[in-house]
Amino acid sequence: MSDPALPAVGRTVDPRRIGPAHQPAPQRHPGALGNATVFDINDVNVYYGSFRAVKNVNFTVAKNEITALIGPSGCGKSTLLRSLNRMNDLVPGARVEGTVAYHGKDIYEPGVDPVEVRRRIGMVFQKANPFPKSIYDNVAYGPKIHGVARSERDGIVEDSLRKAALWDEVKDKLKQSALALSGGQQQRLCIARTIALAPEVVLMDEPCSALDPIATARIEELMVDLARQFTIVIVTHNMQQAARVSDKTAFFSTEVNEVSDTRTGVLVEFDDTQRIFTTPSDERTENYVTGRFG
Ligand SMILES: Nc1ncnc2c1ncn2[C@@H]1O[C@H](COP(=O)(O)OP(=O)(O)OP(=O)(O)O)[C@@H](O)[C@H]1O
Ligand SMILES: [Mg+2]
Repeated sequence: MSDPALPAVGRTVDPRRIGPAHQPAPQRHPGALGNATVFDINDVNVYYGSFRAVKNVNFTVAKNEITALIGPSGCGKSTLLRSLNRMNDLVPGARVEGTVAYHGKDIYEPGVDPVEVRRRIGMVFQKANPFPKSIYDNVAYGPKIHGVARSERDGIVEDSLRKAALWDEVKDKLKQSALALSGGQQQRLCIARTIALAPEVVLMDEPCSALDPIATARIEELMVDLARQFTIVIVTHNMQQAARVSDKTAFFSTEVNEVSDTRTGVLVEFDDTQRIFTTPSDERTENYVTGRFG
């Protein structure tokens, strides 16, 4: 189940190595310099056919931090996010140029198994998308298809649901349909389903955009909690959310090519979140975060 072409890092082989839900997590150092680099994104361009959706993107993602991708609609946030776990492979016509080094190894190199990439680097989508199965089966499905024995799955399901702050609400109805849960519960279930595979990184594309403020606050708390154990990259339109939860922020914008009349996403600025929201170095960032544009 592990791919020899990818470097070995912690928590990659056995989902049980996630450990008990309430074990003391390592201390988090928001924004601290020196956290190990998980991703080194180097001159990444993403095309859909001949259309270049994002251009020359460079930034790094540090371990156990939350990195937020922000910017106006259409600037390529989702496109860039999907390039971090080869999800763009599944989009017809999409092509990634440049390197996405994950612990120093380019995930686009020949020989790297995209299925293993996506297990290590899980994804939660904008709209909760539970399978039309029971709550239990939603969480157990991934471990099952990755060959985890039935006898171990109960523990993984409980552990993952606890980590996703959903266990107490569902422990008495694990066999009921996931589709009967509320939107916020469904989103936490999708987070549980993702972490059941013991990923190292969790990518989240606007995970709260369909949720009310209370469910949103719940997920935000959860993200901060999960970052002790996982590395998180989140796309959000919600400035307060980026400011509240993230350590680093990447601000994207679009450049318009008047000749070809196309808009290409560019990374304007990447920095500590606090700096992006207080003293950004680029005027476009300042205009965006202060609401004068976008
Ligand atoms: N499957 C696709 N085929 C062709 N073009 C696409 C595809 N997906 C996205 N695009 C284009 O790529 C550009 C970036 O889109 P993307 O969805 O990444 O933006 P975004 O920043 O996530 O926007 P939003 O905030 O609205 O979600 C847009 O011009 C979009 O039309
Ligand atoms: Mg998007």
